[in-house]
Amino acid sequence: MIHPTLIVKQIMKQAEPHVLVIFGASGDLTKRKLIPALLELEKQKLLPTGFAVLGVSRTSFSDETFRQKMTEFLPDPNENELTKKFLKKLYYQSIATEESYDYPVLKDRLLTIAKENNIPENFIFYLSTPPKLYEIIPRNLATVGLNSAEDGFRRLIVEKPFGTDLNSAKTLNKNLLDYFEEEQIYRIDHYLGKESVQNLLVTRFSNGIFEPIWNHNFIHHVEITSAESLGVEGRGGYYDNSGALRDMVQNHLMQLVGMVAMEPPVVIEADAIRNEVLKVFQSLRPIREDDIAKQVIRGQYIESHIKGELVKGYRQEDGVDDASRTETFFAMKFFIDNWRWSGVPFYIRTGKKLPTRVTEVVIHFKKTPHRLFGDEMAPQADNQLVIRIQPDEGILLKFGMKVPGAGFNVQTVNMDFHYADLANVHLPSAYERLLLDCMQGDATLYSRGDAVEKAWAYVQPIINAWNNNPNIPIYGYPAGTWGPDVADQLVEDGGWRYPCKNLSNDGTYCEL
Ligand code: BG6
Repeated sequence: MIHPTLIVKQIMKQAEPHVLVIFGASGDLTKRKLIPALLELEKQKLLPTGFAVLGVSRTSFSDETFRQKMTEFLPDPNENELTKKFLKKLYYQSIATEESYDYPVLKDRLLTIAKENNIPENFIFYLSTPPKLYEIIPRNLATVGLNSAEDGFRRLIVEKPFGTDLNSAKTLNKNLLDYFEEEQIYRIDHYLGKESVQNLLVTRFSNGIFEPIWNHNFIHHVEITSAESLGVEGRGGYYDNSGALRDMVQNHLMQLVGMVAMEPPVVIEADAIRNEVLKVFQSLRPIREDDIAKQVIRGQYIESHIKGELVKGYRQEDGVDDASRTETFFAMKFFIDNWRWSGVPFYIRTGKKLPTRVTEVVIHFKKTPHRLFGDEMAPQADNQLVIRIQPDEGILLKFGMKVPGAGFNVQTVNMDFHYADLANVHLPSAYERLLLDCMQGDATLYSRGDAVEKAWAYVQPIINAWNNNPNIPIYGYPAGTWGPDVADQLVEDGGWRYPCKNLSNDGTYCEL
């Protein structure tokens, strides 16, 4: 176990006073993620002194009812003085969001709230609505001049999904850019807000020991897993039109690939970092439609028994077509054709109803050039650097050590660091971090329009092949297993790592 000596250095720009307008405020995301994240920022004293939230949606509530609804996911909302004070900063306005005639009402209310609370006309608009409104709301805001300002700022946060394919993403970008400038648009990918994802950059670019070996000379292959034990959890209607490729791969996993593979940015600033991520996406070797059946595996969970209990298959979930061919599991092998990564295979996999919830990046280093120890017949383990995104966030290095006693038998041992060892350091949630960044005008951890399009362009041939060729198989896998067996054949040399909840353990079915 490594016990870190930690110097926490906080470089913070102060967020300017503003009103945060949340469209889709009666939806789940607002009460589950956004309001708890804002309260946490308040506790950390990171919100500006002039701050208010205006929730907007169609349903009509009073401010008081809205405040009450927002307490559902807050700890002790009625006892805690700070929480009570925070709740008073929440307001609510019901409008017909898709109709421009209601926007003067919205504007009046917004200006009144700003004036009453002594807040200058700085506004952030958060789109947490059904995606079809992502084009309508910015246009309607523009009809009342809320898209730009001579003094103060106007920013627009757009939730995922950002398009459903390359064309729809391009259209959405174009429509947003008709009313807002690129610098005003914050496309959210909550994976980039995770502390452990940002730590990837620090691990790579602040450690002299890792950077020289982070390339094709030393790395054999890279494996990225994002597994979930949950299924579609009441979101069958949405998920059945999406599937793992659109829901997880095009956005979250591609962003992880960007962080693992990018070149060092010139400075730690939004455009410098985002330029490097874009270059990675530009270097992805296009997958030919003919190779899709070989390089990409899709699967769907089927009914099974977990610990004696019957677990539904995907097609039996509410809102899912009973002949659905939507993938709940996705695995792919691909290459990045550039100087650093020439010839290094990358593997990604994600799925629902897998044995455990875990996201991690595993760097597999090349083996020693000549084998001196151990049984010639036994497979030689490689050195692995495991960067654990969640849970049990941390880093693990696996290396060979002599088994004490006679001979030279080698055993793999672990050297690990867990974020949980950092006592008294608050690990901000992804939404805390991202909301605060937008308040401070920092878009580093948001996706830029060109990169989002590039990521769609990369996965588009897969979508096309699946649409055009019904013979490409979708493999069933029993709920609670690591996906279809054929996915194991994708990875040459050693197969996938089978992670457990705890970073230092691994095995086939740890959590079951
Ligand atoms: C969301 C997907 O973007 O990410 C969900 O829509 C998925 O289907 C979730 O469950 C995973 O996020 P996290 O932070 O729990 O890994």
